[in-house]
Amino acid sequence: MTPPGADAAVGDALRHHTRPGTLQLAALPPLSLYVHLPWCLKKCPYCDFNSHERRGELPEAAYLDALRADLEATLPLVWGRRIVSVFIGGGTPSLFTPAGIERLIGDIRARLPLEPGVEITLEANPGTFERDRFRAYRAAGVTRLSVGVQSFDDGALKALGRVHDAAQARAAVEEARAAFDTFNIDLMYALPGQSLQALAADLDTALSFAPPHLSVYHLTLEPNTLFAVQPPQLPDDDTASDMLDLICERTAAQGLQRYEVSAFARPGHRCAHNLNYWQFGDYIGIGAGAHGKLSFAHRVIRQVRWREPAAYLAQASAGRAVSNETEVRRAELAFEFMLGALRLREGFEWAWFTERTGLPASSVRGRLDEALARGLIEFDAGGAVVRPTARGFDFLSDLQSMFLPPDSAPQGG
Ligand SMILES: C[S@@+](CC[C@H](N)C(=O)[O-])C[C@H]1O[C@@H](n2cnc3c(N)ncnc32)[C@H](O)[C@@H]1O
Ligand code: SF4
Repeated sequence: MTPPGADAAVGDALRHHTRPGTLQLAALPPLSLYVHLPWCLKKCPYCDFNSHERRGELPEAAYLDALRADLEATLPLVWGRRIVSVFIGGGTPSLFTPAGIERLIGDIRARLPLEPGVEITLEANPGTFERDRFRAYRAAGVTRLSVGVQSFDDGALKALGRVHDAAQARAAVEEARAAFDTFNIDLMYALPGQSLQALAADLDTALSFAPPHLSVYHLTLEPNTLFAVQPPQLPDDDTASDMLDLICERTAAQGLQRYEVSAFARPGHRCAHNLNYWQFGDYIGIGAGAHGKLSFAHRVIRQVRWREPAAYLAQASAGRAVSNETEVRRAELAFEFMLGALRLREGFEWAWFTERTGLPASSVRGRLDEALARGLIEFDAGGAVVRPTARGFDFLSDLQSMFLPPDSAPQGG
């Protein structure tokens, strides 16, 4: 049930978002749904995601109630739009019971029209489940599992402060493979003390499971993490660059295509949800600290939910899950679009730029021409597709920075 006062607030928000503005979006982009489940067994020292160490029992039922209230309060902003993908991420969503996940998916299906055959991904950590748990997620409606392996090496896992060991990582991938037609393995590279040979061994193990999708992230030292305060010894830039070359070679040899900076997939197994992010699609983000992006005829807005689980539980249940909402400034839209779209190896449809930012093509023509002249991008399909060249992909943050608003300092992406 909607709490008292919430209807009026949502009505005000809707009127606010649909009023006239300077942008002209001819059509609304595809809409995804992200659901954040914020608890983990233990906080990893490199992690800056909104994840919180579980203390005692998870408030599973109360949190699912809050997510439902959050979703209901958001519905008026997306009336009539279909959901193209759902991603249940964290934190460690596999701490939630299969019955809880089934309820969550049921709550979503009852409130939002989902495209037929919609991709529903769940993130799972090794060592957080008993046997057959993955099958139960599948039965609950999850179609794709993303397993956070990080490494198959006991020493590396220890250095990363992970709760699982290599044997549990293998067991989790085996279970995922047995239960799902499509699944992902998350690995990280340039780990503390990692050699090229150790990475090769990790990759070979990952590839021995013939994963339909592999994500391989360069470990970064994020501010506000333990690793930022006490940095471990990491491989130097040259070694990290050799590592990336090795990753590209070995994945390609196994038929996995690098379709985004960190994402490798077999044909037909790309992640629809992440593709929608990179293609500047829309997404509702429910759950503690979740981010959302929603388009209207004349503006694009971003929403953030209350970050602390306790605050989120209290606020979402009262119909006030959103802690912050901002309109993307006209001057920032080109950069925001390019930040994701240029990460795609095959590029993007040029028409999407105008369709999804509401800006005329002329607003970036000069900067596109400059990127063309510097050999960083190319047009294909008679000008219908823009994509980074191999050089542009190597110097991606330089390329992305070319689209920064004139009033901001250069930054990486
Ligand atoms: C949001 S995390 C959640 C997944 C899951 N809880 C886990 O840790 O296995 C998604 C992925 O981001 C990657 N990641 C997290 N922190 C990172 C960092 N500092 N640098 C690079 N990749 C990172 C890891 O590969 C992780 O699997
Ligand atoms: S398990 Fe994943 S989300 Fe949780 S703290 Fe570790 S890296 Fe972050």
